[in-house]
Amino acid sequence: MVPRGFTVITIFVFAIVPHIQGFAISEQDGKISMRSSPFETALVTLQRQIGYNFQKISLLRRAMTHASFSEENNKALSILGGNIIDTSASLRLLKKNIEISSKEMNRRISEISKVESSCAADGLQLGLHKVVRVSPKTNSSAPAVVCGAFRAIFGAIALDVGKSDDAGSIFWAVHGGEVGGVMAI
Ligand SMILES: *[C@@H]1O[C@H](CO)[C@@H](O)[C@H](O)[C@H]1NC(C)=O
Repeated sequence: MVPRGFTVITIFVFAIVPHIQGFAISEQDGKISMRSSPFETALVTLQRQIGYNFQKISLLRRAMTHASFSEENNKALSILGGNIIDTSASLRLLKKNIEISSKEMNRRISEISKVESSCAADGLQLGLHKVVRVSPKTNSSAPAVVCGAFRAIFGAIALDVGKSDDAGSIFWAVHGGEVGGVMAI
């Protein structure tokens, strides 16, 4: 009885262990290859730079994908992000001065969110031109591309959290912190 039990266990061990090891190794390989992909590494760095860790990293991946690269791109996220920036700027301006004129308000908002000066500059400082995925024919440093990716980050955060407040706060931290402090209100 004992030898038979032993045999059964031995067979069990020899049959199962290689599979366990094989699984562990392929899991590890999967993680290593994910880590060594320059794009995935850049996403990790970007999250550290903005001080926000995505629950759904696929949202940041999409935010860093230009329409020239894929059907699954950042165009819609960028609209949401742009609106969050404008809303958040409006709120700050009115909190500071309820008497602000509409003209001054529009001028200040565009100063904060304009493509060429502010938005693309913020994006370049984060190094988004080196992260965003574009087609080979597209210049990833073009202001519209960098700005689209920059705005899309905040759209992606809002979707990740389920509301826009945190995205607005993170925008101010990025815009008014180490990045693009000139335009801070
Ligand atoms: C890409 O765009 C940037 C910013 O507009 C420009 O300075 C650069 O010369 C462009 N590069 C090419 C290869 O067109």
